Amino acid sequence: MNVYDSERMGELLEANGYKITEEISQSDIVILNTCNIREKAAEKIYSELGRIKKYRDIRKESGLETIIAIAGCVAQAEGDEIKKRAPIVDIVIGPESYHHLPDMISDIKRKTGKKFSSQLDFTPNEKFDSLPKNRSAKGFSSFITIQEGCDKFCTFCVVPYTRGKEYSRPMNDIVDEIKNLTEKGVVEVSLLGQNVDAYHGKWLHGKWLDDNLEEKDANLAQLIEEVSKIPEIKRIRYTTSHPNNFTADIISQHGTNPKLMPYLHLPVQSGSNTILQLMNRKHTREKYFEIIQNVRKARPDIAISSDFIVAFPGETDQDFQDTMDLVNKIGFSQSYSFKYSPRPGTPAALKDLIPDDIASNRLYALQALLKSQQTQFNQKFLGSVMPVLFESLGTRATKQVVGKSPYLQAVIIDVPEGKSEADFLGKIFNVEITTVLENSLLGILLV
Ligand code: 5AD
Ligand code: SF4
Repeated sequence: MNVYDSERMGELLEANGYKITEEISQSDIVILNTCNIREKAAEKIYSELGRIKKYRDIRKESGLETIIAIAGCVAQAEGDEIKKRAPIVDIVIGPESYHHLPDMISDIKRKTGKKFSSQLDFTPNEKFDSLPKNRSAKGFSSFITIQEGCDKFCTFCVVPYTRGKEYSRPMNDIVDEIKNLTEKGVVEVSLLGQNVDAYHGKWLHGKWLDDNLEEKDANLAQLIEEVSKIPEIKRIRYTTSHPNNFTADIISQHGTNPKLMPYLHLPVQSGSNTILQLMNRKHTREKYFEIIQNVRKARPDIAISSDFIVAFPGETDQDFQDTMDLVNKIGFSQSYSFKYSPRPGTPAALKDLIPDDIASNRLYALQALLKSQQTQFNQKFLGSVMPVLFESLGTRATKQVVGKSPYLQAVIIDVPEGKSEADFLGKIFNVEITTVLENSLLGILLV
């Protein structure tokens, strides 16, 4: 979601006369869009600020000003405290109010006596309404936020505090944004939300020229169905889902909608019912098994991925073994796993930590198991043919293009004689998989 937010901040500033540069030395404004989910991510900004300060000092010698803004969830969580720890920061702006960025920059630039500006309101509706309607897409696959925030309050998680209450964008706005992206060549969309399956946006339903447009709420399955009616959109993905919002109609979309990719990211966090309860997840491991069973019934080849936290306060060896057992029973195509990281202000942060050597051993064991399942999943495709959406050039000197399989694996092919890379980008071709590497598949084009 931060990638999407960064793109939108860039577009907003471009609409206000700025240009994007990757070079800090050329930047009049540097925006650090930050993540607060774990301590490591949050701490990164201070080392990054040290690096930026060097550039700012060099620029100062040539009489150039550099405005430094901290955006995102660390900005939201730490607010004006950031200024105390890092006085070089000029702007602090939260993830639900970054549409104020141009005004805040102008204020600082005009030197209205203002040396520091912060904006931490939760106004997602106002934010989306204020962003430019004309998107600038950089590739063929685009993220699009459809839902933000969370009302679930898992005891380890900062999101409800940094992203605020659950908010769903109106469905018509989302469809318009996707149509606009297709004009720039986008053929795949990933619908984003912290609880994307809790989506319930307003939907003006009926014929546009009809005066009697009916307003109702759309859910994720209805949104997916509407998006799949856009002819240019060939592939639809969504992330991240919560087991408690994962309904039968989303499962049925997986069984019936060919544009919906066979991939489900469904975080479970732990395989122990005791820990799930302490985490306030409000679901059991049995419920998770049931969902996966139903979704596999509808779409047998679906790739399942998940997030795990090990060494949550109170996790015993048996609880951890329950997680390993869940992983063994499900079989994941890939996953993300983390050591529990206490986040200030969350209930679990008040509890005693599991010693770090135990936490590390558990993470190591879990990651080894997940890695072996990923390899096993990838090996299944050796010799098979699958449709690949090509998105970028290879990094080797030889002519190669890289794409994604329906299961989100990276697939690389050599560009055949007489063809150029451009013939492939943004298009889907059938590829026969000839080699399975650790993080990618190699294949040959089938003509
Ligand atoms: N410590 C470790 N991992 C966390 N996550 C969220 N909060 C924490 C935390 N305090 C993980 C969860 C979530 C993913 C995005 O990050 O697994 O699903
Ligand atoms: Fe965080 Fe997800 Fe739990 Fe919400 S549902 S509190 S975003 S882990």
